[in-house]
Amino acid sequence: MALASRAFLWTGAVVCLGFAVIQLIRPELKNPPVTAEIQAPEEVRQILRTSCYSCHSNETKLPWFDQIEPAYWLVTKDVKKARRHLNFSEFGKLPAAQQKGLLFEAVNQIQMGAMPLPRYLKVHPEAKVTQDQVAVLRNYLVPPSTASAAPAAAADTTAGDAQYGKWIKQSEGPLEVQKSPNGIAFLPDYKNWKTISSTDRFDGGTLREIMGNDVAVKAIADNHINPWPDGTVFAKVAWFEQPDGQGVMRTGAFYQVEYMIRDSKKYASTKGWGWARWRGTDLKPYGKDAKFTNECVSCHEPVAKNDYVYTMPIGGQQ
Ligand code: HEC
Ligand code: HEC
Repeated sequence: MALASRAFLWTGAVVCLGFAVIQLIRPELKNPPVTAEIQAPEEVRQILRTSCYSCHSNETKLPWFDQIEPAYWLVTKDVKKARRHLNFSEFGKLPAAQQKGLLFEAVNQIQMGAMPLPRYLKVHPEAKVTQDQVAVLRNYLVPPSTASAAPAAAADTTAGDAQYGKWIKQSEGPLEVQKSPNGIAFLPDYKNWKTISSTDRFDGGTLREIMGNDVAVKAIADNHINPWPDGTVFAKVAWFEQPDGQGVMRTGAFYQVEYMIRDSKKYASTKGWGWARWRGTDLKPYGKDAKFTNECVSCHEPVAKNDYVYTMPIGGQQ
């Protein structure tokens, strides 16, 4: 028995022990009770259950290979984060407008390939949402017949108009709006900026308008848009759509406004843009802490070559 093989045995034992020990250091992942599960037709819930529940619900079921460290540690982190953003087991507690907004966001994320998380799909290919399933989700959110035919209840239309009036007011009065968690202050002036484009991505979902401040408008006129000059600000405003019964889409409830503010030095760590979002008629700042900007940046990453801006005013790509 040579010394070498004894050393080998020892090394093996230490590695095994180490592996066993890290199995014991487990951040806790509990399944809290399901208190207000999303109310939706069974075929919709089935899709969410298969593709989203392992992270976005209190019914996380981990297969054995996710129970082993370090996979377990990574999955736990994802699940905790995912539940904070969207938890289908507690979904029913949210106000109706927020539920709707989150579902729109969910379908958007699926269509862009951002959800389920691509690294999760590599090991769980069964969680992929197919085109047919996307169609099921979209039809649930915007039933094809109601999109053009069914009139909104008069009360809804009035509420929508009242919300719109409120939105106009938001930009006038000195409203107390809290800062975004990354320190960016609300810019009430966006209402007076120029509309650069409006999108209605999602036949009958939200109406969006992209506005630009004077610097943006001048940059467009001078064709200096890549990179955009410091001082450029974009606002993207979204409302829910509401058919009025005469085939006209009206703006329903105000959903959110979000900004990209160009300052290549100040915001160097977030690709040269300051990102901020306020949601709901009470303009609640979005994000638990400053890290919410990771979401914005990662979704705008596909257009990094356009200086992270989706809306192309010249050439009319949008
Ligand atoms: C492997 C875990 C995992 C799976 C599976 C998963 N997600 Fe997520 N999801 C996350 C994480 C983590 C975040 C937070 C991302 C961040 O903060 O960068 C997130 C964020 C989101 C958000 C953003 C919510 C917001 O506040 O804007 C939506 C919407 C979303 N997921 C929808 C879905 C849908 C729909 C599915 C199923 C088709 C799904 N996710 C499947 C982990 C997951
Ligand atoms: C799910 C992907 C996604 C996420 C997450 C996202 N965006 Fe966007 N954003 C888009 C798309 C797509 C557009 C193009 C306009 C449209 O289709 O609505 C856009 C447009 C914008 C615009 C108008 C300028 C442009 O690029 O066209 C602003 C401002 C903006 N987003 C801000 C934000 C902020 C702030 C956040 C984070 C709080 C954020 N976005 C998160 C997808 C996303």
